[in-house]
Amino acid sequence: MAEKERLDELTGTREDLASIKNEAFSTVESCRTQEDIEAARVKLLGKKGLITGIFKSISGAEAEEKPVIGEIGNLLRELINEGLQAKSETMAEEALVASLAENEVDVTLPGRKTALGHKHLISQVIDEIVSIFLGLGYRIETGPEVELDYYNFEALNTPVYHPARSLQDTFYIQREDPEHDNSNDILLRTHTSPVQVRVMEASSPPLYVISPGKAYRRDEIDATHAAMFFQVEGFAVDKGLNMGHLKGTLEVFVRKLFGKDRKVRFRPHFFPFTEPSAEVDVSCFACDSAGCSVCKGSGWLEILGCGMIDPNVLKYVGYDPDEFTGFAFGMGAERVAMMRYGIEDLRVLTENDLRFLRQF
Ligand code: DAH
Repeated sequence: MAEKERLDELTGTREDLASIKNEAFSTVESCRTQEDIEAARVKLLGKKGLITGIFKSISGAEAEEKPVIGEIGNLLRELINEGLQAKSETMAEEALVASLAENEVDVTLPGRKTALGHKHLISQVIDEIVSIFLGLGYRIETGPEVELDYYNFEALNTPVYHPARSLQDTFYIQREDPEHDNSNDILLRTHTSPVQVRVMEASSPPLYVISPGKAYRRDEIDATHAAMFFQVEGFAVDKGLNMGHLKGTLEVFVRKLFGKDRKVRFRPHFFPFTEPSAEVDVSCFACDSAGCSVCKGSGWLEILGCGMIDPNVLKYVGYDPDEFTGFAFGMGAERVAMMRYGIEDLRVLTENDLRFLRQF
């Protein structure tokens, strides 16, 4: 460094100035903290500091010495400034490294990923069922969960004495109007079938409708019963629809949902709103109908209820049963999910244990 060499040269024969120079450099060198640096700045560059002392001595010096002392003062001031600046920067760097080490921050670690959620198993199953029917040309319709007795029971040809209407099976909603206090005409729908009536009432055939939604029942809660559950309802009304269309539609559906090798069985059953009615079983996918614990030895799993829409229901919505016929079906989404994944207790679906939910 040129300035340092020039300074050494000038102070070489001037002992006093050489010792001031040495003191200044060793003061800079001995700084350990930012406070030391501030103190050194005052001591060396301040109003009463060493450098000021050098310039003050000029007035008493011999004429030819004056410019030399001035040059020494300037060089020394510059070198002190540079020295203190460098010290300060090194210290700041060391302090940063030390604090990183202390906090154990590893700046080379990759960033943490935010976990993305996904659709609940039941939503996935509902989406899948619905999309199969969308593929068959059906459209989605939904209805209210708080429903009138008329749509939930009466227009679905369910007589007043039907057990489903009893207080033990249905959640009824009290009217605020005291005049109607005891009338059980508002309820939480016990199935998604009332959507059939509402859609038929509001539009005319041909109708091909799929309707997912919640239903409620006053069941004792256990491994296979919940007070709230999901159903998917489907129905079609058109000219000339018969049992063959119903069977064909449901066979296509079951094979799309459970695999092309599944067999489908229709068992006669009774529902007030269909005639004839049937329950549909699918051959057990766990044992291929041989009989196992999943199908309780029968080789078959019940998956849905269905039938030809009862002419009485068509009459309720003002359709002529001689002109139009229809079929309908309904299934429980939880039941489908349980069958598919071998889940034995539906309560795990609502307990929100991520270890369970993440599997799907
Ligand atoms: N609503 C019936 C239930 O909740 C299921 C059902 C059966 C729906 C037959 C239908 C049907 O549309 O035709 O158990």
